[in-house]
Amino acid sequence: MSTPAVDCRGVSVRFINERRTVTALEDVSFQVEPGGFTSLLGPSGCGKSTLLRVVADLIAPSEGRMSVLGSTPEEARKARALGFVFQDAALLPWRTALENVELPLEVGGRRSLPAGAATPRELLALVGLEGWEGSYPHELSGGMRQRVSIARALLGGPRLLLMDEPFGALDELTRDRLNAELRRIWAATGATILFVTHSVYEAVFLAEQVLVLSANPGRVAALETIALPKDRSLAIRDTAEFVGIASRLRGHLGSVH
Ligand SMILES: Nc1ncnc2c1ncn2[C@@H]1O[C@H](COP(=O)(O)OP(=O)(O)OP(=O)(O)O)[C@@H](O)[C@H]1O
Ligand SMILES: [Mg+2]
Repeated sequence: MSTPAVDCRGVSVRFINERRTVTALEDVSFQVEPGGFTSLLGPSGCGKSTLLRVVADLIAPSEGRMSVLGSTPEEARKARALGFVFQDAALLPWRTALENVELPLEVGGRRSLPAGAATPRELLALVGLEGWEGSYPHELSGGMRQRVSIARALLGGPRLLLMDEPFGALDELTRDRLNAELRRIWAATGATILFVTHSVYEAVFLAEQVLVLSANPGRVAALETIALPKDRSLAIRDTAEFVGIASRLRGHLGSVH
């Protein structure tokens, strides 16, 4: 097997302050295939964001080992191999959509894109925002703002895209549409995606693999391969196969308290 994009082995994270010690993650192990799409599913507070932060080199594990793209999270971050999308689009209000996508070129000291990388304009087209380049964030809907933040995260062609409940604040129809779009974007870019969500439906529809975490402390409750066809439309959620997988995962979620 080729080197996993994410290789997490026995990772624990403890937050210690003067009042208490919180074990956010305990002995978490899993692998993500290169080019794979993995959803992290679990109740609030089970350590999903913490796990993503360990991958992104924002937190060091208290125990265990995290490898990202065959090296340390720090090396992957320094190589600019990671893209990050948060729940809040976090756009700069005084910059246009295009200028927001260009932002990473101005911060962190690198001015030019790697050879062959998609341009900011091309990335906006990829996320369905052709013609909106000159619009300011307040002129865009919540879904459109999230598309801009996805385009920004894709700048420079990251090999691993980390997404922390990017559609959590959107209405259901917009979320559905963006779920379908994200599958298309994933196929078009070939990036590996690690996607955090509370939603069983979203987790199953998007991913090739779902990691279910339990809470207090965050442990692996299940790791399931999603054997659905690669080419998925939203209608797949009504199939017996999909409903079966979703109810099994819900069972894992229900058994973890
Ligand atoms: N910087 C920190 N300092 C102390 N405790 C923290 C810190 N970050 C997270 N925690 C604790 O770690 C646990 C896991 O938090 P985390 O944000 O990873 O959960 P989550 O699964 O992302 O939850 P949600 O779905 O609500 O976003 C929580 O108990 C939280 O209080
Ligand atoms: Mg979180």
